[in-house]
Amino acid sequence: MAPRTLLTAGITGVGMSFPERRLTNADLEKMVETEDAWIVERTGIRERRLAPRGTGASAHGVLAARQAMEHAGVAPAEIDQIIVPTVTPDMVFPATACLIAHELGAVNAWGYDLEGACSGFIFALQNARAQIEAGHARRILVIGTEIMSSITNYQDRNSCILFGDGAGAVVVESVDAERVGIIDAINHVDGVGVRFLHQKAGGSRLPACAESVEQNLHTVYQEGRDVYKFAVKGMAGVTAEVVERNGLTGADVDLFVPHQANIRIIEAAQQRLGLPDSKVMITIDRFGNTTSASIPSALRVAVDEGRLREGDTVVLCAFGAGFTWGACLLRWTAR
Ligand code: UT7
Repeated sequence: MAPRTLLTAGITGVGMSFPERRLTNADLEKMVETEDAWIVERTGIRERRLAPRGTGASAHGVLAARQAMEHAGVAPAEIDQIIVPTVTPDMVFPATACLIAHELGAVNAWGYDLEGACSGFIFALQNARAQIEAGHARRILVIGTEIMSSITNYQDRNSCILFGDGAGAVVVESVDAERVGIIDAINHVDGVGVRFLHQKAGGSRLPACAESVEQNLHTVYQEGRDVYKFAVKGMAGVTAEVVERNGLTGADVDLFVPHQANIRIIEAAQQRLGLPDSKVMITIDRFGNTTSASIPSALRVAVDEGRLREGDTVVLCAFGAGFTWGACLLRWTAR
């Protein structure tokens, strides 16, 4: 039997969706002891979006997915798989992918949720790429969607200033390997990070009970300074690695689209590659940290701002709870 040739996977459509309500730094000044100037200087965030209580992650996931499918020119019935990276699923089970498939009318798709925290989108993209390359699927939706406000403790100034709600989605299909498509990816997990960033209750180890609710254990617990140190090293390191091992330098990169957790972490990775500001996507100022939604929504902003052209060399990277981190190198597929 002749050896099977791998196909090449590429992003052919991008979408995003955010709630209308803005939570500004001035609003937060009324909720916890903090200042606009501190938040802007230490994180780069000016405002984030907040969904009304009771909104599930699927709601914005569906809207982002519709926009991505429209961009790619793909109908819901043509989708083979739906992968939903999220830490804030509508329910513990079933998978948010099921809810989204139903709402979209993606009647020929199977799918699942993926828990990679802030690296969830990068991890899910790698899974989608593998399925497309192997010929097991033709069109896959990857939808990073989060209602971070549902697990944010608005009495903890160390963390409540960071997070926002929203969704970003991409369609992944096989593309012309000569010109465009995903070239390489590197991903990591290291459980050394669990103690610094996690949600204590609601899992099998500590199911919800009166005490867990009383003690606010169903929200993000973060030791920010420690996470910051790992994030700077991890994100800058893996970004440089994926570029260099493909014989490229920062000068070859047209657009850098990092996870939006903290402007200073992004700047560290940017400096490592020697990139000018014009080549770096920044959306943290308007959306805060939206976990798995930050990279795909930043891609959509880049498309809307005309910052991506066919064949452009793009680098994505992320770092998050776990710890998890990774980077992806691709050439852009214009639509
Ligand atoms: O996306 C998932 C991965 N997560 C991350 O990447 C987050 C990584 N960490 C960070 O981004 C930063 O560590 C934070 C933004 C969370 C905190 O910034 P920092 O510069 O590391 O501040 P710090 O924790 O070292 O705290 C410095 C000071 C402290 O006061 P003292 O102890 O020196 O008196 C904090 O209590 O700043 C204080 N502080 C605040 N002050 C005003 C902490 N939060 C606030 C606040 N407003 N909201």
